[in-house]
Amino acid sequence: MFRSFRWQIALWFVGLSSVIYLALALVGALCFFTSLSHSMDEELKVVASQIGHAIDVTGDKPTFRDWLRVVETEPARSVMSMQLFDPDGNLLEHYGPPGIPRLLEGQEEMTENQQTVRIRQSKLTHKGNLVGYLQLQLPADKRSELTREFLATMAIMAPFVLFGFGICSYIVSGIAARPIEHLFVTLQRFVADAGHELNTPASIIQARSQSLERKLTKQGIVVDDVPVITSASERMGQIVRNLMLLAELDSGSQEPVRTTLDLQEIINCTLAEFLPRFQEKKIALKSSLQPITVFTDRESIDCILRNLVGNALKYTETGGAITVTCVTHEGEVCLTVEDTGIGIPEDSLPLIFERFYRVDKSRSRASGGSGLGLAIVKAVTESLSGRVEVESELAKGTRFYVYLPLPRASAVAQKLHTCL
Ligand SMILES: Nc1ncnc2c1ncn2[C@@H]1O[C@H](COP(=O)(O)OP(=O)(O)OP(=O)(O)O)[C@@H](O)[C@H]1O
Ligand SMILES: [Mg+2]
Repeated sequence: MFRSFRWQIALWFVGLSSVIYLALALVGALCFFTSLSHSMDEELKVVASQIGHAIDVTGDKPTFRDWLRVVETEPARSVMSMQLFDPDGNLLEHYGPPGIPRLLEGQEEMTENQQTVRIRQSKLTHKGNLVGYLQLQLPADKRSELTREFLATMAIMAPFVLFGFGICSYIVSGIAARPIEHLFVTLQRFVADAGHELNTPASIIQARSQSLERKLTKQGIVVDDVPVITSASERMGQIVRNLMLLAELDSGSQEPVRTTLDLQEIINCTLAEFLPRFQEKKIALKSSLQPITVFTDRESIDCILRNLVGNALKYTETGGAITVTCVTHEGEVCLTVEDTGIGIPEDSLPLIFERFYRVDKSRSRASGGSGLGLAIVKAVTESLSGRVEVESELAKGTRFYVYLPLPRASAVAQKLHTCL
């Protein structure tokens, strides 16, 4: 149980770390992208201020003056497109790559023909009059390439980082779970020890009250209290045994003793023991069982069946019917116990497998229930690597499904058997 607890914490941690890592990678890429855009803008600003001196604005149209000097001193600027426009936005001159040959007023960035450029415009004035525009365009390929490289690096690093996180979280969760594990083991030991200590007096009280009841009956004396003591001690003994069984299942100390069994035979044997109670309550017992060979623990199957059939009997009115079926389905055995009883309210369905949970406490107490039976069914089924499900409708009935895995060879054999 604690191993799975530890794995669960570790997996949650790795899952959470993956999300954080992904978020960091995306935020990092965004910051990287923004800072590259910012430095491109800075470059455009510097070039614009330097090139401003090389533009002649005294004639009727602005022209590059002395621009070769600017270009020669800054070879890197050959990737930058420099354009001169008249006040109406007509292109007059350009140097460098053609870029987007339009005046893109108010735009910081533009994508056209699969090319993205960062843009900067400056107004050219002479004696306070607008004489044209200088527009610079810097291709953003390098920025995209660098951002892609950043993301690729983060993606390559991801498995190593997450593996590291996984190992750390497994170690840390082990350390964090140690005190809880210690407490849990102490509690289990306490329940087991208390169970052993209580079981003996409960058995003695039960045996002595039964013997007292017999003696008094022989002498023709009827004392109402004695049968009450007998049934209460019987119930107490049952609760103690159930608690001990749950503590044992929780600790995982008792591995199921698996042998090759005929499931049909086990079910028939267990049902035969219930027959007097069926007859007493006038409830019809129906069964539909396939001959299924399983490799499992006989006592566990018996325990599951006793609890489910016991419940069905307890919560079905006289005249009702209980059906037990057992079939194989997709590599699993499906054992079903269905009744036509009082049913379980929908909001109680997720709770009925919890310890000491009873839908109607007064009713269950009257029928001798303590709310441990289904918790045991669930724990026992899970110890056999199976699962248990329930469907119910109030006043119509309840159906419990217990799914158990079939061993592979057995699954093939069962399939053949079903086909023949
Ligand atoms: N077949 C059923 N029909 C209707 N209600 C059911 C049925 N099986 C279980 N329940 C409800 O689920 C509750 C829990 O069942 P569970 O078997 O755990 O406890 P219990 O039968 O009351 O006591 P215990 O099994 O410990 O003697 C029951 O109290 C009952 O309210
Ligand atoms: Mg029960």
